[in-house]
Amino acid sequence: MEPTKSIWMDGELVPWAEAKVHVLTHALHYGTGVFEGIRAYKNDDGTAVFRLRDHMKRLLVSAGAYSMQIEYSVDELVVAVRDTVTDNELESCYIRPISFYELGTIGLNPSGARLRTSIIAFPWGAYLGEEGLLNGIRVKVSSWARISLRSFPAAKATGPYINSVLANQEALREGYDEALLLTSDGNVSEGAGENLFLIKDGQVMTPPLSDGCLAGITRQSVMTLLTDDGHTIVEKSILPADLFEADELFLTGTAAEVTPVREVDDHPIGSGKPGPITRRAQELFSDAAGGKLEQYRDWLDYL
Ligand SMILES: Cc1ncc(COP(=O)(O)O)c(C=O)c1O
Repeated sequence: MEPTKSIWMDGELVPWAEAKVHVLTHALHYGTGVFEGIRAYKNDDGTAVFRLRDHMKRLLVSAGAYSMQIEYSVDELVVAVRDTVTDNELESCYIRPISFYELGTIGLNPSGARLRTSIIAFPWGAYLGEEGLLNGIRVKVSSWARISLRSFPAAKATGPYINSVLANQEALREGYDEALLLTSDGNVSEGAGENLFLIKDGQVMTPPLSDGCLAGITRQSVMTLLTDDGHTIVEKSILPADLFEADELFLTGTAAEVTPVREVDDHPIGSGKPGPITRRAQELFSDAAGGKLEQYRDWLDYL
């Protein structure tokens, strides 16, 4: 990873090499952090951050679920993101805000530890590859179950991501591009770092949040975009067998954007090529993020 100039830490921009934490950081031992992933796009009218306030609201909601009191408001975090991207002279980039318990205690109760907040911005291309965006990726149904909603609040916290890391490692080791995780009850939940959409006979489906998937901001954006485009989207539980009978499948996420899936466990999906609704979702998402659709301009925060 290439260093950038500066990183925002607890209210100020510090040089990249100085953005450090102690080895007794509570979050390092117990995963007591919450985070976000955001993208900024270089558009004709300048650099625009996609749904910045919604991401910062979700960060504070995630913190609340873990009784973590972040001392910054959404407005202050929005300004901090602007300052970070501007100071690093970035155009299209990925932005990673994180709040975590640092030094102060080694017991499980983090209340004696200092809560730190940082924002890092850096260039990052297509998460699942340009080729994946174009022709689709190959996914594996993981042997690991999605961590259950009975085990953690459905928030974007660092600790539970070990579940995604395991599934992703397994898929890559076996030659696939990404993992899909099932709930312990056997419903399809989501990708290791993406939400899932399935199309069958023209109907667009996505698993409900009760199947343990993250309330993805891209998921919600794509649902709005496709609905406004005349499609009906149904939130309904999906079984692994439904995947193999799908006409189209795609994944959504800030990092992955809208990525077609061309194979699940070596079975081709539909024709084996991205289908028309997937292509439409990609086009609408890219136009909305690119500032080309007037009706979604309020999703963009120009620097
Ligand atoms: C497990 C998981 N699901 C879904 C998503 C997609 O969420 P979003 O669209 O808000 O980036 C992510 C990305 O952060 C994720 O890590």
